[in-house]
Amino acid sequence: MPPPPGPAGFFRLDHDLVCDGVPLAAIAAGAGTPVYVYSAALVRERYRAIDDAFGGYPHALHYALKANSTLAIARLLRSLGSAVDANSVWEIETARRAGFDPAQIVFTGVGKSPAELECAVGLGVKAINVESAGELARLEAIATRLGRTVRFAIRINPDIDAKSHPHISTGLKINKFGVPLDDARALLQTVKGRPALSLVAIHVHVGSQITSLDPLRRAAALAADVSLELQRRGFPLEYIDLGGGLGVSYDGAEVPSPADYVTALLGEVRRTSLPIVLEPGRAIAAPAGVLLARVIDMKARDAASEFVILDAGMTELIRPALYNAFHRIEPVSAPATGDRHYELVGPVCESSDVVGRDRMLPPLAPGDVVAIRDAGAYGSVMASNYNRRPLPAEVLVDGGEWRVIRRRQTLDDQLALET
Ligand code: LLP
Repeated sequence: MPPPPGPAGFFRLDHDLVCDGVPLAAIAAGAGTPVYVYSAALVRERYRAIDDAFGGYPHALHYALKANSTLAIARLLRSLGSAVDANSVWEIETARRAGFDPAQIVFTGVGKSPAELECAVGLGVKAINVESAGELARLEAIATRLGRTVRFAIRINPDIDAKSHPHISTGLKINKFGVPLDDARALLQTVKGRPALSLVAIHVHVGSQITSLDPLRRAAALAADVSLELQRRGFPLEYIDLGGGLGVSYDGAEVPSPADYVTALLGEVRRTSLPIVLEPGRAIAAPAGVLLARVIDMKARDAASEFVILDAGMTELIRPALYNAFHRIEPVSAPATGDRHYELVGPVCESSDVVGRDRMLPPLAPGDVVAIRDAGAYGSVMASNYNRRPLPAEVLVDGGEWRVIRRRQTLDDQLALET
C-alpha cells in the first residue's frame, strides 16, 4: 500500500478530522453511522513501536485478539509478523481463518471448557496458559486420551496491584486469575515425568490500561525469578510470557511509551536470556480506531447544559457505561472544542447510557457527526444487540482509501438464529 497523505492516524486538516488523510465526514456519509473507523497506518506504527523497542533481544508479540478481532485487523497484524493471544476457541478459530498457524497462538482464559482445551490440544497451539490445578488435570487427561504432549505455561497470580480500574485489574490474590506462587511451585513439583505435560513458560498478566510501569516491572521481575528457579530445578523453559496491559492516553495525560515499557521489562528479564512473549492489545488497537456517531436530537438538561443524543451509545461502546471510561469526543467538521456544555448520550433505554459527560464543544445540531476517539480496542468487540440494535459497521482506511471490513448487522442477521 502507498503511504497515506500526511501523518498516520487521526488529525485535522483545516476543520476536518481525517483518518490517514481521508475525511471522516466522507466515511460517515458513505458507510452510515454508527461506524467504527480504523487507521491501518496507525496499527502498523503502534505494532512496530513495541516490536522495534526490543532491538535485537529475542521476542514475540502475540497481539491480544480480544481487543479487536475483526478479520481484517487480525490479518493486518499477521502481515506485520504478529502472533496472537486467544481467549476462547472462537478466537482461536478466528485466528486460524485470519491465516495464523497454531504455533503462533497462545491460549489464555480463566474458564476454558473441556471442548476448548481439546480443540487447542488437537491443533497443537504454542502454549495453553493454565490457570488452576484443576485445569492442568483436565488438560493432562485430554492430552493423554489424544496421545499428545501438551505445551503449557502456568499463569502465576503475583498479588500485584496494577492500580488500574478494579474491573480490569487481574493481578491481586482476590482476583480470579492465575495460580498463587506457592501453589504453582507445589503443582509444578508434580509435573516432571508426566509424559502428556510439557512446561514451556511462566505467564503473568496483572491487568489492563496500566499507566505506571511499576506493577509491570514488578510482575516481570517475579516472572524472571521464578523462571530462573524452575530452570535450576531442571525445567527447560523456552520463554517468559509477560501478558499485556500497557495503557494508552485517553485524555492526553502522559503515559509510558512502548520504548519505556519494553526497556523496563528487559531490565528485569535480560538476566534470564529467555525470549519474551508479550500480549499487547489496547496499546496497538485503541488509538487506531474511532467510533463515528450522528447527532439525532438535542434537548435541555439544566440551565447550563444540554443533552446531545447520538445514534451510538452503550450498545456500540460500553466502556463509558461499564468503567466510567473517558473517551475524547469531537465533531468531525468543526473545531474539537468550544463553549457549549454538553452531556453526550446514546439512544438506549438506560440512564447509564452516557458516552461523554460534561464536554465543552462547539454548537452541535441534529445531523452532525462526532468522532469518539481511541475506540479501536474493546469497542466493537464488546458491542451488543440490546434494544435489538444492530452491531455497527467497521471501516479500514489504508493507503488513502477506505473499505468496509464488516458490514452493519441487519435485523434478519439477528432473527436468523431464532425460531
Ligand atoms: N493477555 C491477557 C491474559 C489478558 O487478559 C488481556 C486483557 C491482554 C493480554 C491484553 O491486555 P491489553 O494489552 O489490551 O491491556 N474490556 C476492558 C479491558 C479488558 C482486558 C482483558 N484482558 C476495557 O475495555 O478496558
